[in-house]
Amino acid sequence: MAQIDQLVLDLETPHILLDQDRLQANIQLIQGIGNTRGVNVRPHIKTHKCLELARQQIDAGAVGVTSSKVDEALVFINNGIRSVTVAYPLVVDSKLDRLIAAARVNDTDLRLIVDSAAGVDAIAKVAERHGKQVSIFLKIDVGLHRCGLTEDDSGLVELVQKVVGEPNLNFVGLLSHAGHTYGADDADAARKIAADECGIMNRVRRKLESNGIEVSEVSVGSTPGTLVSDSYDGITEIRPGNYVFMDRMPLRLKVIEINQIALSVLATVVSKNSDYFIIDSGSKTLSSDQGAHGMPGMEGFGLAYPLDHFEDTDYEMIVTRLSEEHGVVIRGDLDLEIGSKVRVVPNHSCVVANLLDTYTVLQAGQIIDQWDIAARGHVH
Ligand SMILES: Cc1ncc(COP(=O)(O)O)c(C=O)c1O
Repeated sequence: MAQIDQLVLDLETPHILLDQDRLQANIQLIQGIGNTRGVNVRPHIKTHKCLELARQQIDAGAVGVTSSKVDEALVFINNGIRSVTVAYPLVVDSKLDRLIAAARVNDTDLRLIVDSAAGVDAIAKVAERHGKQVSIFLKIDVGLHRCGLTEDDSGLVELVQKVVGEPNLNFVGLLSHAGHTYGADDADAARKIAADECGIMNRVRRKLESNGIEVSEVSVGSTPGTLVSDSYDGITEIRPGNYVFMDRMPLRLKVIEINQIALSVLATVVSKNSDYFIIDSGSKTLSSDQGAHGMPGMEGFGLAYPLDHFEDTDYEMIVTRLSEEHGVVIRGDLDLEIGSKVRVVPNHSCVVANLLDTYTVLQAGQIIDQWDIAARGHVH
């Protein structure tokens, strides 16, 4: 591992470090999967919330970005990203109003999802007010049981016909997120979930086509699903997000190696006792997530390493407990000076990114850049 530069040691903590070579490798890995399988890549930017990273993904070949929230999407729309999917059911007039207004001014290819007649009505009204054409996906529940219609929902065709009947809405297809891949026991179980997702999406597509409705796009996406999928028959787009950073979640599933994780948290040992080191990163930095979507999965809240033994399993320590500003790390046989630094591989990078303002970007142990986490905290 490259020697860490003194400037990194001088950073005030907690601080997010990104490894540029790993970021690029992760971006190229997923774009390569998309290119090989002939599907578009539309990364979910809720992971990084950062313009510089979205531009790297677009430069690598992504067709646009996916976002969750309106104000998050606006950061990208207002800064030159030409095609944006908000993969979240939008039903509130005021939010739709500022989103669609910005998309019209920037001539953005705006794509939204629906899973209710109320959602269709809300979008159609605001799209008409602004004279803007909006592309619409029907959200399909493929097993996460969060949003979306199940394939056997008796109102599915009727809801799509309602979209088709709206002059400012263009029905483009189907969208799903198999987030329950994160709860799988292993890579094989995740692969089965991804295959089932494709099966469901193709059956719904055929059902709509047999009712005379054209389905031009079928969009799926999760990082584990993308990494393990055997086939994308009938799929046109993938929307993974977490992959740009990775974290302990795909590591637990054994679909990545630890040296693919591009995000870590630099923290300082501020106290110690016979059992624990206390670091200055608690739940307000590492988050309390122990798995995605509230699914349990991992022991503790992160893996901590002394700076000069980053990712060395002999020096690995579990962050076992968190207060808001304190992380409690099981020290085992190790001793570290108070004031020394550790690097923590978090459970869930996407949440960590939402909690701090800046990324410090490293290459070969040197600081090469600092990027604003421009859309962090944009939860409306
Ligand atoms: C609708 C939707 N699409 C795509 C993604 C990206 O999934 P992942 O971060 O696993 O790659 C998410 C993540 O929550 C999502 O909610």
